[in-house]
Amino acid sequence: MQHTVKITDKIYWLGVNDRKTRLFENLWPLDKGMSYNSYVIVDEKVALVDTVESGYIDEFIVKLREILQGRKVDYLISNHMEPDHSGAIGAVVREYPDVTVVGNKLTFKMLEAFFSLKNKQKVVANGETLDLGEHQLTFYTTPWVHWPETMMTYDQKEKILFSGDAFGSFGALDGGIFDDEINLDFYEDELRRYYSNIVGKFTKQTQKALKKLSNLDIRIIAATHGPVWRDNLKKILSLYNDWSTYTLDDGVVVVYASMYGHTARMADLTARKMAEYGIKNIRVYDASKTHMSYIINDIWKYKGVILASPTYNGSLHPTMEALVSELKHLDVKDHYLGIFGSFAWNGAALKELIKFSEEIKWEVVAEPIEIKGAMKAEDTVKFTELAKKMADKFNK
Ligand code: FEO
Repeated sequence: MQHTVKITDKIYWLGVNDRKTRLFENLWPLDKGMSYNSYVIVDEKVALVDTVESGYIDEFIVKLREILQGRKVDYLISNHMEPDHSGAIGAVVREYPDVTVVGNKLTFKMLEAFFSLKNKQKVVANGETLDLGEHQLTFYTTPWVHWPETMMTYDQKEKILFSGDAFGSFGALDGGIFDDEINLDFYEDELRRYYSNIVGKFTKQTQKALKKLSNLDIRIIAATHGPVWRDNLKKILSLYNDWSTYTLDDGVVVVYASMYGHTARMADLTARKMAEYGIKNIRVYDASKTHMSYIINDIWKYKGVILASPTYNGSLHPTMEALVSELKHLDVKDHYLGIFGSFAWNGAALKELIKFSEEIKWEVVAEPIEIKGAMKAEDTVKFTELAKKMADKFNK
């Protein structure tokens, strides 16, 4: 007998914890695990909202059977087709062959592409409602939060928003499932890391979704990852609004690549000088050691960024190259930027960082710096100037 978790009288959390996978999307570290949350509404009709990743099908189906006690699933609502949520759709259809899959036009194109399923389908449009008995579910299309087919489902009776990836978090649910059962400090960081790494590319679409939902009376947010929000709704909505409008904290993320320590020493000096000029939030990272997931997370927290790289085979050091490439890919906006590069015989890193600054259109706060070989005493003034100009942005 497993322990079932009720959200309300007839609505259950049906999630699993993944502590085995090292990288989400084979890219983003899952040091603290990950939850895949599905939900079941047991009314006159039974509706399942999303499923889980395919590695957890057995656990998922066992829990589902236990909740349903012999009843069948009438509707399987797919808010999002990424396989971390659609991975068990095939298993659900095999278990309940009469189930009707509910999604929008784009959902079924993906369902066909991934699973070639030919079961019953119900196509819903934005604003359409599905009647389960006591519960009426209304669907809101929220494209690109996180994929084009993404939608959210709102339960009118209990005022629960099944939000898909939005408001979701990295981190397994270690006992606590509701936000009032956990220490939010832990999840705020993992929440931002999830937003910045996974959904952050789509800030405009996040804003559109927030506006679309703004008239709903939402009492509970049930996302597909991380805690169920019922106590800190204002906070989570406000965080999402801040992150999707780049309303960030004062502070600077310094990221360097360094082969033999010269560029690292320049980065440390710049950080020290910024501290002397009064910046309290400074994070210094070695791009070769810290996964870009955590660096991007902090870049979504602080407004200032300083990037530094030695020249490596006529370009950036590959670890810095990967970071700037991802920042461009995510289309990160509205930051203050400082850049410097070093070289042994022919400078190229700084040219690449200047190109990056032009492409990403962040505000470059000081003259880019280029150093041949080791930093000399007379170079100190250049890094001091960079630190001062960055600090001036925050000391207005
Ligand atoms: Fe949690 Fe976009 O999948």
